Parts: sequence; C-alpha cells; structure tokens
Amino acid sequence: MRPARDFFAPLAVGAPQPLREIPARPSRAIHFFDPSNEKMAAKVPGMVGTVDVLLGNLEDAVKAANKEAAREGLVRIAEATDFGSTQLWTRINALDSPWVLDDLTRLVTAIGDTLDVIMVPKVQGAEDIHYVDRLLAQLEAKAGLEKPLMVHAILETARGMANVEEICGASPRMQGLSLGPADLAADRRMKTTRVGGGHPGYLVRQDPTDGSAEAIAAERTSYQQDLWHYTIARMVDACAMHGISAYYGPFGDIADTVACEDQFRNAFLLGCVGAWSLHPKQIEIAHRVFSPSPADVAHARRVVEAMGDGTGAVMLDGKMEDDASLKQCLVMVDLAEQLAATDPALAERYAAAEKEASA
Ligand code: GLV
Ligand code: MG
Repeated sequence: MRPARDFFAPLAVGAPQPLREIPARPSRAIHFFDPSNEKMAAKVPGMVGTVDVLLGNLEDAVKAANKEAAREGLVRIAEATDFGSTQLWTRINALDSPWVLDDLTRLVTAIGDTLDVIMVPKVQGAEDIHYVDRLLAQLEAKAGLEKPLMVHAILETARGMANVEEICGASPRMQGLSLGPADLAADRRMKTTRVGGGHPGYLVRQDPTDGSAEAIAAERTSYQQDLWHYTIARMVDACAMHGISAYYGPFGDIADTVACEDQFRNAFLLGCVGAWSLHPKQIEIAHRVFSPSPADVAHARRVVEAMGDGTGAVMLDGKMEDDASLKQCLVMVDLAEQLAATDPALAERYAAAEKEASA
C-alpha cells in the first residue's frame, strides 16, 4: 500500500513535483497528425492558434516502417514551432509494442518541455499507468524538466473499461481519458466495422398494434440507439470522480459531418469536454459543439443572478430553479469563461447574447 503523502512525491530523484491540479485549458478538438507524413507535417505550424490541441500521432494509422520517421518528425516540429496557446500532445505506441520505450526516451529528453500531454493507448489497468509514471519521472529527471508531463489514457479494451476507475486514480499525472471506439469494439467482439459513430442495426422498434401476422409485418417506427451511451457515461463518472476530463475519441466517417456533430454533441451533453479531429473539417465541429451555446450561457447567467445567495427556489420563465439547477448553470458559466479567456470570437458571441438577454 502506498501512503497518501507519497502520492505527491516525485517518483525519481530530481523529477519535478507532481501536479496537484490539472490545468483547465481548452481541449475541445484534439487534432491528430502523422509527423512522418511530410505534407501533413508542413501544415502543422500554420495550424497553431486554430485548434486547441495538436497531437503528433505515433501509434495506429502510422505504418510500422514509418514509426521512427514519425518520432523524429515530431521532434523536429516541436523544436521549430512556437505553439503559443495551442497545446502539443503525442500518442505513443502501445506499451506492448517494440517502439514505445524509444518513443518515451526520445520525446521526453528532446522535447519534454514543449509537450503537454502523453496519450497512452490500450491501457488495461492501473499497472500500465504506474509503469509510465515511473519511467516519465526518470526521464524528466534526466532531462532536467521543471514541469511534469501529464498522461491521458485511451479506453479501448474491455479490461480497461472494467478497471476504468483505478486507471483514472492511478497517478496525479492523469489528465483525462478518451474513448477509443474502434479498438474497444474489436476487443469486446462487437459486430461493427466502423471507427466510432452509430449503427443502423442497433435500434428499438415500436410494438405491433396486436399479435397478428399482419400487425407484426406492418410498417412500425424504429429508432436507432446510441451504441456508446453506456461506455461514455461510465467513463464520464470515473473521470468526474477523479477530477479529470473525459473525451469522445475518433469519428471515422469524415464525409458525414452531420452524424459527427451528433456524436460529439451526445458526448458533450453527457459531460465530455472534447473529441478527436481526424480531418481539419472536424476541428470546427468540435470547437462549436464543445463550447456551450451563447443562448445557454446567457440563460445560465440569468439563473445565477436570480438565485442570489444560491439557496431556496425561484420561478424563471415558468420554470422552477433551485440549488441543483443553479449548480448546473455554474458548470456552464465556468466552462464558458474558461473558453472565452482564450477564444476572443467566442467571448464576443457570449457578450452579445448576454446583452440581448438583458435588453
Ligand atoms: C482509437 O484509437 C480507437 O481505437 O478508436
Ligand atoms: Mg485505437
């Protein structure tokens, strides 16, 4: 057993002090790029300031023959780019792969002061986070880093799902979790062949009007259901319990921007703070969906104002508001203020909606 006090002690001599709070920085869109793809890599500096997070991907979608080129490409980009308010993350290779040790050793010692978060795929349990935690501390000490790197786990195995709470609480480095619907579907033996999103076969159908063969064969309304509801809700609870952030992962049907927006919004409404972007057109969707709407923020501010000292109940537009609805409104206002602080266009839209609401 580890004494509580040791939890915040560095895991290597000379490593920086672990963080006590995970900094709340906007991460509505985590834009993936392959640093071994020269065309894609050349666009990265120009994307700084247009997306909350740029992520150099070393894992799946990068060919085995390009793993080293991806790692070195990321080092070059990080050394040559001023990232301003955009965060730089990486997704390393899986812990059972032949590349991960070099990924961590090279990246932390070369660009550890530029990287914000290390995304670890296929995390199975707390033991995986403990391994990365100690190794990062050793490498941080070697590199003389002053700021600890944060860790983000992808939830994409059945075992990882079963261990989700212990994964979130395994280290003070834990920044958040993303759903990895493609690997998770395969590991669970779900019968889908997509990267995230729904499936038309997963539905509920209206009852027949009676038990006759005609009624059973008749046209009946059916509704597609959300394949990911249970998983996202479970992930959000585990993250909220440990004070870290939850993210929807990838949406592979790039052309279907409408369904992508639906999937992102479901995740936002359930408590996620962002999603991955696999194509520049998904960045705008994620930034919009994961920012509370100006109308919702204006309403939330009205409730906060009407509730005064925060106790009791008031009627607003025919609806009862009390301590609990006030708390929801405070979540909304708090997030809006955080996002507006680094997104001037959004700040203007919030200010305009507030002015209109109070006119
Ligand atoms: C992402 O890595 C996924 O497997 O969906
Ligand atoms: Mg995956």
